[in-house]
Amino acid sequence: MASPKQAATSTNKVAAGFTLPVPYRLFFLLIEPIATLAGAYFAFFDQRTYLDLTHATSAPTPIPLGTSIALSQLANLYFAFALSEALVLRATSDLRVWKTVLFCLLVADFGHLYTVSPLGGQIYGSVLEWNAIDWGNIGFVYWGASMRIAFLAVPEKFTGFQVHAPNPKPEFHKNEFQPKPFGDYDVDVKIEACGVCGSDYHTVSGGWGEQKFPLAVGHEIVGTALRVGPKVTLIKPGQRVGVGAQSYSCLDCRQCKNENETYCTQQLDTYGSVWPDTGIVSQGGYSSHVRTHEHWVFPIPDALPSTIAAPMLCAGLTAYSPLVRNGCGPGKKVGIVGLGGIGHLGVLFAKALGAEVWAISRTHAKEADAKKMGADGFLATADKDWNVPHKMTFDIIVNTANSFEGFDLDAYLSLLDVHAKWVSVGLPEDEGIKIRNQTFLANGCFIGSSHLGSRKETLAMLQLAADKGIKTWVEEVPINETNLGDIMRRMQKTDVKYRFCLTNFGDQFGA
Ligand SMILES: NC(=O)c1ccc[n+]([C@@H]2O[C@H](COP(=O)([O-])OP(=O)(O)OC[C@H]3O[C@@H](n4cnc5c(N)ncnc54)[C@H](OP(=O)(O)O)[C@@H]3O)[C@@H](O)[C@H]2O)c1
Ligand SMILES: [Zn+2]
Ligand SMILES: [Zn+2]
Repeated sequence: MASPKQAATSTNKVAAGFTLPVPYRLFFLLIEPIATLAGAYFAFFDQRTYLDLTHATSAPTPIPLGTSIALSQLANLYFAFALSEALVLRATSDLRVWKTVLFCLLVADFGHLYTVSPLGGQIYGSVLEWNAIDWGNIGFVYWGASMRIAFLAVPEKFTGFQVHAPNPKPEFHKNEFQPKPFGDYDVDVKIEACGVCGSDYHTVSGGWGEQKFPLAVGHEIVGTALRVGPKVTLIKPGQRVGVGAQSYSCLDCRQCKNENETYCTQQLDTYGSVWPDTGIVSQGGYSSHVRTHEHWVFPIPDALPSTIAAPMLCAGLTAYSPLVRNGCGPGKKVGIVGLGGIGHLGVLFAKALGAEVWAISRTHAKEADAKKMGADGFLATADKDWNVPHKMTFDIIVNTANSFEGFDLDAYLSLLDVHAKWVSVGLPEDEGIKIRNQTFLANGCFIGSSHLGSRKETLAMLQLAADKGIKTWVEEVPINETNLGDIMRRMQKTDVKYRFCLTNFGDQFGA
């Protein structure tokens, strides 16, 4: 279990309306348990002082029953634990924990009552007096637990902005949908922000072919973990977390055991995939909530604001994974083709990893921005002979272009040094392009691709972003039907600097 300090800081920011002021935290976490333990000590070893302190001077002395008072103190201790748990740590929403705590409280208190019975009936009057506060405590525990349960409540059905049919100018409709059944390893996340990926547009426009409609897209999600399944160990309720483009893999095959779960043959996407056991189609982050296996739910470092972190969960990871897997670092010359959502994060991450970074864009329109992002150089493919001065000088090029219109692969590949790597992550809608062996014979370069990244890489990327202060360039847009339609039209023209991020989910789906 996380230390109280860790848990308190990681949940502070997100639990709006449920944050306990510092003096209360101090009281429940520090003073109350210490007072209870001190009370138990005196009750057992120094009853006279204890009775004086508690003004229970009417009690017969000596009481031969230190144990009974210690039991009463034990009840207090459970109470302190329960309240800390409910109000401060918020470490579990499992009702079985609450029931156990209350049961222990009752056993300890009834044990206390039973053990004082040899003192005669009148003792119960005194006990009532001594324990009045304890009995009141039970009400407090219920109150704390119910507040916690209300805070963590998850609706039966989720709500999202779905597209009903493919359309290059898609229309969004707010609908309820049934999430997959809640599994032992699942986490329900209340969504606060969601980036708009190029893939969202390819999907709803119909450019990628048949999809399962009605569909809410969106796979750059940040929100608050509400309910967690009984076997979840990686995420705590109340934590600010992210979900990216992948939501499932077998976690058992050769790839899964090798940090390659994104290449598992059973991998499922966050939206548009069919959950095998139920036939339910997974729905993405243009929604109130998302239900995801804990392996694909990532704690977000406090240093990263939600709208900065959200686009990293697909775009950032798609750039980061091929960079680190192919040796991006000091002494390497790295090219990023396409300065869109993935591309600009590619520039930011390649720079943070210590490489010499060149942005390779179609025109000079984004040159000033690329330099501000830290690019050491900028190439515009519209320029005549743009590639000539840099032939055979690059170690890695990550290609994020989402179209092959006018795409001169030969010119790009000519930039690579001997056996250097061309990693294409863009997934254009068109037919594709022909590659001739002669094209890459001159430098013997390797042509490859990359899909998202592993959990381990996601966590490392978020930490790097937090440590180095990496900031996604975001255009924030409140989520609603009209805005979604508008931004899709702009996505079609790659008119965004450099990632849309949907916000104001509370206005549409409630606080
Ligand atoms: N492999 C994966 O795991 C993965 C994950 C997520 C997304 N994707 C795919 O990656 C692609 C990019 O996604 P994104 O969200 O970054 O999209 P985006 O924000 O729209 O950016 C795409 C960029 O590609 C460049 N581009 C567009 N047409 C081009 C052309 N004909 N020739 C050369 N460059 C061109 C543009 O940059 P300039 O204006 O600078 O030229 C544009 O900004 C999409 O196809 C998406 O589906 C793949
Ligand atoms: Zn994506
Ligand atoms: Zn697998």
